[in-house]
Amino acid sequence: MEQTKEILPDVVMPQPDTIKILAGQKALVTGANSGIGEGIAIELAKAGCDVAVNYVTNPDEANAVVSKIIKYGVKAVAIKADVSQENEVIAMFEEMYKQFGTIDILINNAGLQQDSPFDQMQIDKWNKVLNVNLTGQFLCAREAIKEFKKRGVKKEISCAAGKIIHISSVHEVIPWAGHVNYASSKGGIMMLMKSIAQEVAPYRIRVNSICPGAIRTPINKSAWDTPESYNKLMELVPYGRIGEVEDIGRAAVWLASDHADYITGTSIFIDGGMTLYPGFATGG
Ligand code: BGC
Repeated sequence: MEQTKEILPDVVMPQPDTIKILAGQKALVTGANSGIGEGIAIELAKAGCDVAVNYVTNPDEANAVVSKIIKYGVKAVAIKADVSQENEVIAMFEEMYKQFGTIDILINNAGLQQDSPFDQMQIDKWNKVLNVNLTGQFLCAREAIKEFKKRGVKKEISCAAGKIIHISSVHEVIPWAGHVNYASSKGGIMMLMKSIAQEVAPYRIRVNSICPGAIRTPINKSAWDTPESYNKLMELVPYGRIGEVEDIGRAAVWLASDHADYITGTSIFIDGGMTLYPGFATGG
């Protein structure tokens, strides 16, 4: 054992904060005032990106995220817009161009859950979830693609003309009783992402999804905030820990960077093995 240590010294990983692999790029993160959106916005800033922090209801939270971001020496701005409203999305992109000139990276993150047993699901709950989670991603992607196509590749910035990362979920493939609206929206995001990716690849625009599993955020607080619920959740997570927003943020930085330049049309699952059907470890 001693000998092995001598032959294989510990690898010293460079600190992510010192690698500015997205220097000079401009990102828009929707729903960036909390949770996964906030986590991604901060990791993008650490990697050298200027970041527009979209929010819809909580300006104080969004301004707090802006304050955290500018500490990394990049620019940040909070922009209010309901992503399910076409006029607000168009205005948000105009504001982004006014502030930053262009967009290089769109993180299509804004999303919500409105759970209900299926036979009691009100049309309002269905519409709200589909409008924000799916139509919102369509509207933002459409605006970003317009700019990517118009501007094209700027070699000094990135070898791609633009990158979109859809934040989907393990529930784009795992059915979810009691959450049919949410799972339907995420299944929709998968084909939204792949179809856009196919259409725009010839323009050197990359479009991918990140599919988080259980990440410690407000959206699923009841699934982790007591020892009982946490232990129950762990039955679904072979890796034995909940995900943190940094797990998603770091992957988003890499996926948006030129290190991932040949990746398009793919869903990357970041879920501690949730999609490995853990029940089959001892059954089947
Ligand atoms: C949901 C969370 C859930 C996780 C795993 C996410 O997409 O928003 O509430 O904990 O999937 O089931």
